[in-house]
Amino acid sequence: MAIIKVQKGTKDILPTEMPLWHFMEEKALEIFTKYGAKEIRTPIFEATELFARGVGDTTDIVNKEMYTFEKSERSLTLRPENTAGVVRSFIENGMHRLSAPVKLWYKGPMFRYERPQAGRQRQFHQVGIEVFGIKQPTADAEVILMAINYLKALGLNDLTVEINSLGCPNCRENFKTQLKSVIKPYLSELCPDCQERFEKNPLRLLDCKVTECKEIYAKPEIQKVIQGDFICEECSEHFNELLGYMDELGIKYERNKLLVRGLDYYNRTVFEIKSNNLGSQNAVCGGGRYDSLVKNLGGENTPAIGFAMGMERLASLLEGKQEEKLTAYIVSNNTREAIKLTEELRSKGISCEFDLTNKKFVKQLEKASKVAKYALILGEDEIASGKITIKNLETSEQKTVKIEELSL
Ligand code: HAM
Repeated sequence: MAIIKVQKGTKDILPTEMPLWHFMEEKALEIFTKYGAKEIRTPIFEATELFARGVGDTTDIVNKEMYTFEKSERSLTLRPENTAGVVRSFIENGMHRLSAPVKLWYKGPMFRYERPQAGRQRQFHQVGIEVFGIKQPTADAEVILMAINYLKALGLNDLTVEINSLGCPNCRENFKTQLKSVIKPYLSELCPDCQERFEKNPLRLLDCKVTECKEIYAKPEIQKVIQGDFICEECSEHFNELLGYMDELGIKYERNKLLVRGLDYYNRTVFEIKSNNLGSQNAVCGGGRYDSLVKNLGGENTPAIGFAMGMERLASLLEGKQEEKLTAYIVSNNTREAIKLTEELRSKGISCEFDLTNKKFVKQLEKASKVAKYALILGEDEIASGKITIKNLETSEQKTVKIEELSL
């Protein structure tokens, strides 16, 4: 019979990879808790309308990439990202009444019907954070710090922070008009996606990856508009204050005026953190400020900012990390004593196993050296004298101690 295979763009996370995933998850809890953030878990599917209104109906995500289905005449969608879901929950649970800032973090699977390639899947995982209630750039600085410190805690330092300000709806409108007027003469030469974006969402023209379009946008008259400072005085103050905090904290960043992000809800600060070791899908983190989203989804006017990171991309940067070993493996042909000791050690928080099939002593020792840091040898002599032999499997050092003095 033909075997059924995993779906294109999805992956099993196998037991051998789990230590890495646990590590990423544990560090998220540790680091985000230090910043006063609380974990939230929202449903995997939501009303389709949440994403259409939240993420934006001019985006690729909403137009092309959603897993949408109907049940009982309701249109439902597997979440393509989690900002919209967290905002829905924030509103529904009256979290605006909590004292600001409200800091929520999450982890879990997201679904986008994209063309799979290295670093891009159809089901992938994000770890992310959303901070509500603060309009000052101190929140922007803190959110970027949270991202950087989480990455540092994972051992990832060699990354580039790119940052930009998209201004507010007012100043952006003016920019869009200028941009359209310089690009219009080349409209027929642009790729079909850009031709569509030209009317619907001209800012997105800037991050087109098609060479011909990029060449057009590199023309001097277009660059002049892109590189010019279009943001208004207030937006500019906000941005400069943020950059001031970044300088103060020694956070290196690159200003990238082409950074516009692929979701519609952003205003002012947007940022991405990129790695040079990931090929074309090189963003490990994307985020920004979305001051109108809570109101647009029916809540009180609440400024907010957040980010999300792709966990598969983090995992591929961390791949060299060693699989975790057990602390101890009991080597003994006395299964009664072995099972008792194993349980006793586990109750003290020590990870350990013994041979459930009671294989030959030598075989057990071989197994121990593969899976554990220490072999705890409990032969008949040891049992008779109430002792145990501890063998350090890295250094091969060995000592025999009284069983009640056993410490690892
Ligand atoms: P995003 O840029 O769409 O932003 O996704 C954030 C990160 O998720 C990306 O930088 C990437 O690492 C990962 N990612 C996205 N799509 C895929 C994919 N198909 N396969 C593997 N990894 C992927 C958001 O989702 C926003 N909700 C971030 C945010 C939170 N903004 C404010 N708050």
